[in-house]
Amino acid sequence: MKDLILVTGGTGYIGSHTTVELIEAGYDVVIVDNLSNSDAKVLDGIEKITGVRPDLEILDCADYEAMKAVFVKYKNIKAAIHFAASKAVGESVQKPLLYYRNNLGSLITMLTLMSEFKCKGFVFSSSCTVYGQPDVLPVDENAPIKPAISPYGNTKQIAEEIIRDNAHAGASFNTVILRYFNPIGAHPSAVIGELPLGVPQNLIPYVTQTGAGIRPKLNVFGNDYNTPDGSCIRDYINVVDLAKAHVIAVKRLLEEKNKKNVEIFNLGTGRGLSVLEIINVFEKVSGVKLNFEIVGRREGDIEQVWANPEYANNVLGWKSETTVEDTLLSAWKWQQRLSGK
Ligand code: UFG
Repeated sequence: MKDLILVTGGTGYIGSHTTVELIEAGYDVVIVDNLSNSDAKVLDGIEKITGVRPDLEILDCADYEAMKAVFVKYKNIKAAIHFAASKAVGESVQKPLLYYRNNLGSLITMLTLMSEFKCKGFVFSSSCTVYGQPDVLPVDENAPIKPAISPYGNTKQIAEEIIRDNAHAGASFNTVILRYFNPIGAHPSAVIGELPLGVPQNLIPYVTQTGAGIRPKLNVFGNDYNTPDGSCIRDYINVVDLAKAHVIAVKRLLEEKNKKNVEIFNLGTGRGLSVLEIINVFEKVSGVKLNFEIVGRREGDIEQVWANPEYANNVLGWKSETTVEDTLLSAWKWQQRLSGK
């Protein structure tokens, strides 16, 4: 019998790619999502790629009774991957209570039910945002946590503390916390990808929409940073590579290979790329000249951050594999599909 994995936020960007990888690795998946930032149509894409249509329960993970009914209905949930969260940095500054309620309420509900139903493993989506601007690059998991710049970032820091406190108090399950750097790209089939609602806030969807003529031009936020070309540097990680790390984390938890109750891993490539370098690669792989303009800095941006992924490489046996060229090409193919080309 296949092990059943609960994926909250499974119709979202990283959640949908992870669901595909879980199914392809031989797991059964049930998704819980309130569709606040996603579309149930993504199930068609997951089915097209895998031949399997996972169950979807449409509800809010912060709703204890509704969530409990899912654990009762599916009886044998072995592990959960908790993606469901609000993630727009700017919006979190405007609506902090919404972020604290959604992100922490859903986490507390999940942790409570994990113990009640004796599930074995919990995987939590965290972010390199917890490092702020690191003093040392590349940044490893032991780098100090810096004061959060946004309520969104703060929810990730507090969530990690809640997980640790709960484990310390003797929670009956183990946790893997995955700190993502900048996930980008789409499934190589171009059947699923990122579906930003409204005007994209993140770089890659803005780049591809500009390339497709949906946006007149890309604003590059600053070229006066202390970096080789003056624009900000990030570690852009392919979303399918990222998804595969979740499958490894689940397997590790189910096989009880973890060394501690709570393990933390950086998921990045180990390579930093500037905004201008990304534009350059995009133009090369798409053959499209991108209209962009250098404008002022965006408030709250970190100057440069990239991962030391050695711990994940060595302990999980996971490595980012896809080149940035192939990743940007996948994002471009997905954009073209969305544009009906
Ligand atoms: N950028 C532009 N123009 C745009 C959008 C972005 O120049 O239109 C630049 C940003 O200034 C930044 C880089 O592109 O230098 C990447 O920006 P993103 O918004 O794509 O990503 P961030 O690194 O700001 O944020 C992401 C996630 C957050 C997460 C954070 C962790 O969106 O959820 O990484 O550092 F918290």
